[in-house]
Amino acid sequence: MDIRFLINIVMLLMTEMAVPQDNYCRLLAEWHKRDDYWSTFRSSLGELAGKVDFSWVKSCVAFGTGSGDDEIEFARRLLPSLRAFTAVEFDPESVKALHANFRDGQLPGVETSVMETSLESWTGVGSPVDCVLLFNVFFHVKPEDRRAFFEKCYMDAGGVVVIIDDESADASNFLRLMKRLGYPEYTYKEIEGDILAVGYRRVLIQSIVGKRDLSNPSEDVVKFVELLRHRTVSHEEIRTAIAEIFSQPDLCIYHKRLAIFEK
Ligand SMILES: C[S@@+](CC[C@H](N)C(=O)[O-])C[C@H]1O[C@@H](n2cnc3c(N)ncnc32)[C@H](O)[C@@H]1O
Repeated sequence: MDIRFLINIVMLLMTEMAVPQDNYCRLLAEWHKRDDYWSTFRSSLGELAGKVDFSWVKSCVAFGTGSGDDEIEFARRLLPSLRAFTAVEFDPESVKALHANFRDGQLPGVETSVMETSLESWTGVGSPVDCVLLFNVFFHVKPEDRRAFFEKCYMDAGGVVVIIDDESADASNFLRLMKRLGYPEYTYKEIEGDILAVGYRRVLIQSIVGKRDLSNPSEDVVKFVELLRHRTVSHEEIRTAIAEIFSQPDLCIYHKRLAIFEK
């Protein structure tokens, strides 16, 4: 092989390694550096532990897991009899992070698998699953696809469904920002209406409240918002919207809902 060709390949690889990639998984981690969700989510699991008994749950499927850190934590703390855990995620870097997390042996005795597909194209895992996790994924799903998903879920999957999502654009600075940038607004109440409509009943609901401060956003925070808006808005528009919202101290609070539904 020509030595110059080899040198070019090595240099290209080194450049790739030096420049952080603008993928969803990395930018989401940068976004979370501006909030306290890691700890509010974990406190919320502590609160749940005394209220629910999921010792009957043997199988679980989680959608839009990203790296899966939080879904794995949920399973570790609340699903003591779990035997099979499937993650459904389509972002390639998140899938890599998921595999690495599963290799770490955080779920001993649990058979783990990843389905590299979308929630909309999911065709089931072959047999009913006891528990379905949907943490912070509905932002990405159209309302009509969400309804179709719940119908499929009711027929083919879960006895218990756990949802975490933002409350509304009034109560969530994330949704407020996205609304300000032209993204269609949705509310937790609408998600709940859709899942109740297919036959599930709500057995528990609690709030997750915390702080997010995007003032003086890093380039990565801006890129994350740009990615979520499918690159239809400029960095300048994003920075202006962030400055407007996060200059108001009462808007630096986010309100999410964690809700549990059963058949
Ligand atoms: C905001 S992140 C949430 C990650 C994790 N569940 C959490 O709560 O931290 C949303 C994740 O959903 C994934 N996602 C987006 N649309 C999806 C779809 N239609 N089907 C499956 N996953 C999807 C994204 O790739 C991303 O990893």
